[in-house]
Amino acid sequence: MLTLALTKGRILDETLPLLAEAGIVPAEDIRASRKLIFASNLPALRLLVLRGVDVPTYVRYGAADLGVAGKDCLLEYASDAYYEWLDLRLARCRLMTAAAKGRTPITGRLRVATKYVRLARQHYAAKGQQADIIQLYGGMELAAVMNLADEIVDIVDTGNTLEANGLEPLDLLADISSRLIVGRASLKLKHAELSTLLERIEQALKDRADS
Ligand code: PRP
Repeated sequence: MLTLALTKGRILDETLPLLAEAGIVPAEDIRASRKLIFASNLPALRLLVLRGVDVPTYVRYGAADLGVAGKDCLLEYASDAYYEWLDLRLARCRLMTAAAKGRTPITGRLRVATKYVRLARQHYAAKGQQADIIQLYGGMELAAVMNLADEIVDIVDTGNTLEANGLEPLDLLADISSRLIVGRASLKLKHAELSTLLERIEQALKDRADS
């Protein structure tokens, strides 16, 4: 039995059509269910639906053999216990800093709100900018609006959320897309089964690129 961990939300919405093109279909409608584990049309494959930050952890500890997660999560929670196998080119966006539009430049220490604590620390250290990182778990834009933070580090897709809250994007930290990761131990122990599954997904991606 192979276990594939999927990231719920927008990544899931974009992953399911790609999996369908690879001939992998959940046995029931994932989005209409509160279940977290699903059988698939392939008798030897089951699907888990997790928060993105948890996908690398499941794969790292072998609770899932492979997973789909955003590059943002992989950068923040880097591990050598899995391979980043494929760029699925799904859910593309950017990890950026942002601040109130037209704010006066800040001298001295910055307060920065983010859920990407490690990446934010790296970014401001590389700029030589002293920064106190405030960890939040969602709705980052509000932290800048309410003056909890001078800047935020967050995902920007359309830019609508920044715009709607009077913020503007500043520095680009990374271009983000969803990646397929494969556990090192699983690849050794279940090589044949995994290879067949990986080939299916690789082929579906190739077909997309060719069309
Ligand atoms: C993400 C991100 C931004 C927004 C960006 O939030 O954190 O808030 O999407 O998208 P946009 O540029 O198209 O407006 P999400 O809705 O995933 O929720 P979160 O705030 O809980 O992370």
